Amino acid sequence: MGNVLIAGDLHGNTAHALALIRVAARNDCERVFAVGDFGAWEHMHSGRRYFDAVNRAAKRAGVTVYFLDGNHDKSSLLHELYDEHPDDEGFLMCRKHLRYAPRGHRWTWEGTSFAAFGGARSTDKGRRLAREARKAEQAAKRRGYGSSKRPQTAGMLWFPEEEMTDAELTGLLDADSSPVDVLLTHDKPRASQPKWNRKDKDECYPNQDRIQRVMRTLRPSVLFHGHLHVRYTDTIASGDGQWTRIEGLACDPEASQYLQYSSEHSWYVLQLPYAGERADGPAAAEPRSLPA
Ligand SMILES: [Fe+2]
Ligand SMILES: [Fe+2]
Repeated sequence: MGNVLIAGDLHGNTAHALALIRVAARNDCERVFAVGDFGAWEHMHSGRRYFDAVNRAAKRAGVTVYFLDGNHDKSSLLHELYDEHPDDEGFLMCRKHLRYAPRGHRWTWEGTSFAAFGGARSTDKGRRLAREARKAEQAAKRRGYGSSKRPQTAGMLWFPEEEMTDAELTGLLDADSSPVDVLLTHDKPRASQPKWNRKDKDECYPNQDRIQRVMRTLRPSVLFHGHLHVRYTDTIASGDGQWTRIEGLACDPEASQYLQYSSEHSWYVLQLPYAGERADGPAAAEPRSLPA
C-alpha cells in the first residue's frame, strides 16, 4: 500500500474524487496527491460539503487525500482555518483524511523526497471579477428593496493569492534549496512543451518562470503538474547536465476542453520508493503511450 496516486485538477468534482479514491485503493495507493485546482472552496457551503464527502470516502477506503493549491483554490482561507492544525509531516489537516501541502512544503514518503509548490495565473481573471461585480450589484439592488442581507462577493470567484510572488518564492528557496526526488506543482515549468498549451500567453510566463526556477534549484528527477488539463510527458534540462521528466496530467472529465483525454489521463500511479533513475538526456525519456 505504499504507492501514491498523483491526480490532475479535480475542480471540486465529487464524483471524480470518489472515482480517484477507488483507483487508488485498486492500485495499492494509500495516498492520493492532487496537484491543484482541487476545489478548496470552503467559503461556500458546497465547498464544505465536497471536503466532507472526500474525507468520508477516503476514510472508508483507508486512503488519505493530499493536495496543493491551484489558481482556483482559496488558499488564504486554508491558511486561516488550518495553520494551527498541522499533522506530523507538516501538512495542514483540513479533515482527518484530507490534507493541504502549503507552498514550499517538503516531506519524505518511503524514502522518496517530495516538495510542493502551488499557484498559477488565472487567464479567466477578468471574467471572474466581472461575475463578482455583477453579484455585488444584484445584492445592492436587493438591499434597495429592503433586504438586509449583505453578501460578501469579493474573493468568492477570483483569489488574489493565486500566484506566488517572486519574493515569496525567493524566501522559500532561501529557506531550503536542497534537491528532491519528486516535485509537485500546479503550473508547468516554462520550458516544457506539451502538444496543446492553452497557457502559452504572456500573462502566464512569470509564474511558469518561477516553476522553472524551482525545478532548476531542486533538480527533481520527475515533476508532476496540472493546470493545462492536458496529458503529456517531456524531458527538460534542470541544469548541470541533469534532466527532469515532466508529467502533465489531464483534469476531471467535466472540465476538460479536450475530447481525446479521459479520466485515465488524469492520474498516475507513482510506485514508492521511487526508483528515481535520473534521465541522462532527452533520449532517456520514454513518453507513456496514451490509451486509444
Ligand atoms: Fe484547472
Ligand atoms: Fe489551474
